[in-house]
Amino acid sequence: MSIAVGLIGAGVMGMEHGRILSMHTPNARLAGVCDFDSEKARSIAGKARVFSDPLDLIASREIDAVLIASPDSTHADLVQACIAAEKPVLCEKPLAMTAEQARLVVEAECSKERAFVQVGYMRRFDPGYEELKRLYEANTVGNPEILHNFHRNPVAPDWMTGDMLITNAFVHEIDIMRWLMNTELEAVRITVADKGDPMMIVTRLANGAISSTELFMNCKFGYQVHAELVGADGTVALPEFSAPVINTSGHRASHVPRNWIPRFTAAYQAQTRRWIQSIASGAPNHGATAWDGYITTLIAEQLVKQIGTDQTIMLDLPPRPLLYR
Ligand SMILES: NC(=O)c1ccc[n+]([C@@H]2O[C@H](COP(=O)([O-])OP(=O)(O)OC[C@H]3O[C@@H](n4cnc5c(N)ncnc54)[C@H](O)[C@@H]3O)[C@@H](O)[C@H]2O)c1
Repeated sequence: MSIAVGLIGAGVMGMEHGRILSMHTPNARLAGVCDFDSEKARSIAGKARVFSDPLDLIASREIDAVLIASPDSTHADLVQACIAAEKPVLCEKPLAMTAEQARLVVEAECSKERAFVQVGYMRRFDPGYEELKRLYEANTVGNPEILHNFHRNPVAPDWMTGDMLITNAFVHEIDIMRWLMNTELEAVRITVADKGDPMMIVTRLANGAISSTELFMNCKFGYQVHAELVGADGTVALPEFSAPVINTSGHRASHVPRNWIPRFTAAYQAQTRRWIQSIASGAPNHGATAWDGYITTLIAEQLVKQIGTDQTIMLDLPPRPLLYR
């Protein structure tokens, strides 16, 4: 069975998702593409149908499942349209711009008593993070004490304002901490540099561990995501990005990825493959649910309200509905 996927958004991420769907995803085909810029849509569509309205793509009988890679502000409404049409949807992160929009997505799924949504927190499918989680669950380094996260990006895009460092970037760490240690965040303290970037974020987790996150969106040298778990009996860290090492003229050099796409190629591919497998088999995978997307956005919103105060923020999170237990 081949799942016909409709792609909304043909920008940086849409192009990558289109390529993955066409070349690296068995049992799936790119059947439709929609972008407000029809040139962009046509440039990646190949034999797929080009739609000018995303709601027509979602409603089309030619489309079995939808992948959303349009800007953050479009996500909640498009996901709601997919739930109303009862079509599986893989939506790029974040699920919504506000916690209220995300809560309404959860409510829509709960009223259908069925999960349609996977949120694109792709680090869950990165081989390094998967191995870190396996070792954590096998108690390899003992009781978790500290998790160090590093999230460095060469240059923040123009549209990335102070709040978006949290709502668009730190959301990856919120999701990975919750997933990696199957725990919840309890309290957060953010220290921001005078110019708004970098930030140091210290988090207390419900399993007793503490985490530090360096968030540096203009580090210039390249894109780097790293994590190290310090346990009572040892430490375990993600492997370094694998690139050739060059020795020449008394120097040893290697490459740092320029952005998230080369760093997380394997994760993006596995995420889409596992999403398609889940649709075909009906069995869930370990991707982020609408509930995970909601909690992540809710935490981000609570943090943003107090950013710059240097106060510890006690998080207030609702109970998990039955559908997501
Ligand atoms: N998972 C990750 O690691 C990761 C990395 C980067 C970006 N993202 C997310 O992916 C999404 C897209 O980011 P991007 O960098 O590709 O952005 P982009 O600006 O390069 O592309 C967005 C595209 O969507 C189109 N578009 C806008 N509104 C639309 C609508 N209503 N219907 C159809 N098309 C529409 C635009 O014309 C544009 O071509 C964002 O939500 C972003 O947060 C995720």
